[in-house]
Amino acid sequence: MEEKKHNEQDDLLTNQQGHPVTNNQNVRTVGNRGPTTLENYDFLEKISHFDRERIPERVVHARGAGAHGYFESYGTVGDEPISKYTRAKLFQEKGKRTPLFVRFSTVVHGGHSPETFRDPRGFAIKFYTEDGNWDLVGNNLKIFFIRDPLKFPDMVHSFRPDPVTNLSDPERMFDFLSQTPESMQMITFLFSPWGIPANYRQMQGSGVHAYKWVNEEGKGVLVKYHWEPKQGIKNLTQQEADKIQGMNTNHATQDLYEAIEKGEYPEWELYVQIMEDGEHPELDFDPLDPTKLWYKEDYPWLPVGKMVLNKNPENYFTEVEQVAFGTGVLVDGLDFSDDKLLQGRTFSYSDTQRYRVGSNYLQLPINRPKKHVATNQEGGQMDYRTNFDQHKNPHVNYEPSVIGGLKEAGNPGKEHTPYVEGNVTRETIDRENNFGQAGETYRRFTDFERDELIRNLSDALSACREEIQQIMIKMCTKCDEDYGKRIAEAIKQNKENKKEEMDEAVVFAEDAAHPSDPY
Ligand code: HEM
Repeated sequence: MEEKKHNEQDDLLTNQQGHPVTNNQNVRTVGNRGPTTLENYDFLEKISHFDRERIPERVVHARGAGAHGYFESYGTVGDEPISKYTRAKLFQEKGKRTPLFVRFSTVVHGGHSPETFRDPRGFAIKFYTEDGNWDLVGNNLKIFFIRDPLKFPDMVHSFRPDPVTNLSDPERMFDFLSQTPESMQMITFLFSPWGIPANYRQMQGSGVHAYKWVNEEGKGVLVKYHWEPKQGIKNLTQQEADKIQGMNTNHATQDLYEAIEKGEYPEWELYVQIMEDGEHPELDFDPLDPTKLWYKEDYPWLPVGKMVLNKNPENYFTEVEQVAFGTGVLVDGLDFSDDKLLQGRTFSYSDTQRYRVGSNYLQLPINRPKKHVATNQEGGQMDYRTNFDQHKNPHVNYEPSVIGGLKEAGNPGKEHTPYVEGNVTRETIDRENNFGQAGETYRRFTDFERDELIRNLSDALSACREEIQQIMIKMCTKCDEDYGKRIAEAIKQNKENKKEEMDEAVVFAEDAAHPSDPY
């Protein structure tokens, strides 16, 4: 790490009030055997701050690693000027750089869980643009398990350990997923080698949802984002992951940190897929359905820029832990689509961050925009804004006003005003097509990927009761007959073996060591 310039005084220990700490080894006591005295400010400050070191960990994606870098625009989308589709300023000029912060993560387990788990990987980016922040909060896989946000808490609960025993149990997960047929394509990817990326540098990223781009005329198109690693893509087999996990539970964080320290800056190219805005009745799926791919051959990947990660965080907690991304954080020229999952997410992120980090989480250096912020929002715990000093009339903390204060900004371009009508209802979408693309994914896999999928999925299903296995086999068959047949055969074959192995593991652990107690 680069050494910072400082004078010798900077190395002397102080408390948080700036008082020199002259004795950090002994509490203040009556005589050297105690009792301790309670006016001992240094001790009280130190211990009570320690007592509050933890904040709630993210309810999902708790384990993560982050890095700083920049995005460089190509100024074009494929062969066309990008302004044809979006007026977002960060994209307009070729070579324009926008600083950013990325956080990669695993999803289901806690803040120190191994980074080798079969789990989607989070891929979240905060672009500090001249128009304020843009967050693109995606995953490595290009699709998701569900399309309705109402199901998200149930889904996550089912993936987690049993609330009574605290034991992880695949039966819980498949109990839920067997009743969630829209998850079949995600299951197919997740249990193939694509479910365990080798590290963070060698994985793709995807915005998953259809978003919108809006141009100067206010015209919107649907757009999907994809990140392609210049380091190539690498996934692990279950066996390889198990081996790594036995030696190192931080391998992905370590890999990212060390690559950046060595100056081997990882890069990703950003591609978009573009579709005319609309329902597209000619497709056998709904373009807003996040459980579906837009195939490359129909909607080509068009390069729009690249991302380079060239600086490690200086402090894990203040940057990686406190960073707060959200799908609602868009800039002019970028917009939402009507994807229900996307809209549900957009409430959830800032809501959890007000609880997880605090109501003024946007004032933290990692979260605040790198442009001037001028708001009449005020107060709340830890409000330390200083920007009101710059207002012409800081007495006026409301708007509108003839006396002074902040004024509304003009609209930077023609507003995008999509027309919507319909009955208010609680229904799933018309074109669910839950199995078509999952079957196609199965057929497009290489033999190796298919073999791994069958092995991993049948292993997990072997731990489930027969009723769940039968539903899952039926769903695999609906995707592709061969898929269903092979899963059924593999479950049959390995069910007994697996049970014996699990029982053996318990006995092995029980018998592992018999130390005598000499104390
Ligand atoms: C993190 C909710 C679906 C990607 C989170 C967090 C919540 C959440 C509450 C914790 C945020 C924090 O504490 O800062 C939801 C809900 C979803 C959903 C309600 C569906 C309705 C998705 C999908 C993706 C995704 C589809 C990928 C496209 C992420 C990522 C993070 C995250 C990458 C970690 C962000 C970080 O590194 O701080 N999600 N999520 N989530 N979610 Fe989702």
